[in-house]
Amino acid sequence: MQEIYRFINMLEKIIILDFGSQTTQLIARRLRELSVYCEIVPYNQFPGNDQSVIGVILSGSPFSVNDSEAFKPDLSSIRGKYPVLGICYGAQYLAWSSGGKVEKGNSREYGRACLIPVDRNDLLMNNIGDNAQVWMSHGDTITALPEHFTVIASTADVKAAAYRIEGEKTWGVQFHPEVYHTEIGTAVLDNFLTVCKAKKHWTPASFIETTVDKLKKQLGDDKVILALSGGVDSSVCAVLLNKAIGENLTCIFVDNGLLRKNEFEKVLDDYKHLGLNVTGIDAKACFYKQLAGVKEPERKRKIIGKGFIDIFEQEAHKLKDVKWLAQGTIYPDVIESLSITGTVIKSHHNVGGLPEKMNLKLVEPLRLLFKDEVRKVGRELGMKEHLIKRHPFPGPGLGVRILGDITPEKVRILQDADDIFISGLREWNLYDQVWQAGAILLPVNSVGVMGDERTYENAVALRAVTSTDAMTADWATLPYAFLSKISSEIINKVRGVNRVVYDISSKPPSTIEWE
Ligand code: XMP
Repeated sequence: MQEIYRFINMLEKIIILDFGSQTTQLIARRLRELSVYCEIVPYNQFPGNDQSVIGVILSGSPFSVNDSEAFKPDLSSIRGKYPVLGICYGAQYLAWSSGGKVEKGNSREYGRACLIPVDRNDLLMNNIGDNAQVWMSHGDTITALPEHFTVIASTADVKAAAYRIEGEKTWGVQFHPEVYHTEIGTAVLDNFLTVCKAKKHWTPASFIETTVDKLKKQLGDDKVILALSGGVDSSVCAVLLNKAIGENLTCIFVDNGLLRKNEFEKVLDDYKHLGLNVTGIDAKACFYKQLAGVKEPERKRKIIGKGFIDIFEQEAHKLKDVKWLAQGTIYPDVIESLSITGTVIKSHHNVGGLPEKMNLKLVEPLRLLFKDEVRKVGRELGMKEHLIKRHPFPGPGLGVRILGDITPEKVRILQDADDIFISGLREWNLYDQVWQAGAILLPVNSVGVMGDERTYENAVALRAVTSTDAMTADWATLPYAFLSKISSEIINKVRGVNRVVYDISSKPPSTIEWE
């Protein structure tokens, strides 16, 4: 196994200088998806004489280059030595630090824009067609390029949407190629990797091998407990740990009464097939009691989180000498990403509070992976496709999809409506085409008519989004015929619902969940 570490240490890599953008980790994600190993380092940590570095990317930043507190390192040690790609702030800083002008844009270009390559022979524009959708998110724009900078692509509002610097292998793009809604983003990054002469060695198999080896060393003969949620993250985490430490792993799966219809039984059955050591706990009554009358979303989240911790703690105490708590935390769960100094500011714990309370150490083997990477790892581990392709589901479950207070009756209504929607998606072969879907019970009653009777009942919203990492999402354009069928089925079959609406908001500015 030492050989593998040596192999990884010697792996050629791209360095991403982090100027503090929320999407820096996405750049890493996209490169790894292209099977190239990369590391994120603070904006001023230059590669020095590291022979394994084959290219450098400058990330975006929350700052403007005109802000006095913006990060402005001297780039002379990388320019001309490595291929360099500046993204958004990175591109503006490259231009500004060479004497160009960056100003507040007249039309702040946010969201979608269409890219038009103006130099088709440029290496970065290889195979980039006209009018591809790109995602912009900046208030500044480059208004004057320095000498030797050549525009290679524009949008309607931004002339220097992409440029190259003559005489060096340096490029800048003012759009975000790392964001999935930039259609040609992967192609642009791949073109940059071609310039870097990157070999593509980074794969799920190499991640599993190194992670299992690391877990064996880290955990030795210690006992570990893990809270399963039924979702792909905690399930993959469990299988990975099971591979590393076998019997020393105990998994706990709690029914908090906010799961999908029949999910508890179905998921427990799946886990048995995976050979995992799982205890299932029915705690529905306890959760409903604590949630009675609570309307405020954050308070509901806290009660659900604490209720979970209490149950989990009771169960964990029954086991002797547990030292570690394993969690399927992945990158989107991390509320605030690594700061540019490399220290963790604050992280989201699925079972927050528990490690300190029980004196447990945390092990989070999937922490740096995005959802689709986790799925690839799960597949590589031989897990069944239906478990791997399960839509993400929030920790507080239907608790954040029942707007207002929660009652067992409301849960019943939402579970039935949600089940019709999700089963319909499967029947119409639409389930795998959307990233996440679910029904939301709205805190409004509306007037309807059924037979000769006037009704005054609940409205249900259906939400289905396309995404790859939940950082951005678009509403799914489901066929009208499907929506129509699901709407009538819900209204006809689910007692208490007389109106169904479809959510057509994208993220940003909306979020995927309603609470
Ligand atoms: P939003 O609503 O922020 O959701 O666009 C992004 C992704 O995170 C999930 N989500 C949660 N997951 N606890 C969780 O474990 C939560 O409180 C929570 N809120 C949102 C959401 O389902 C989506 O996949």
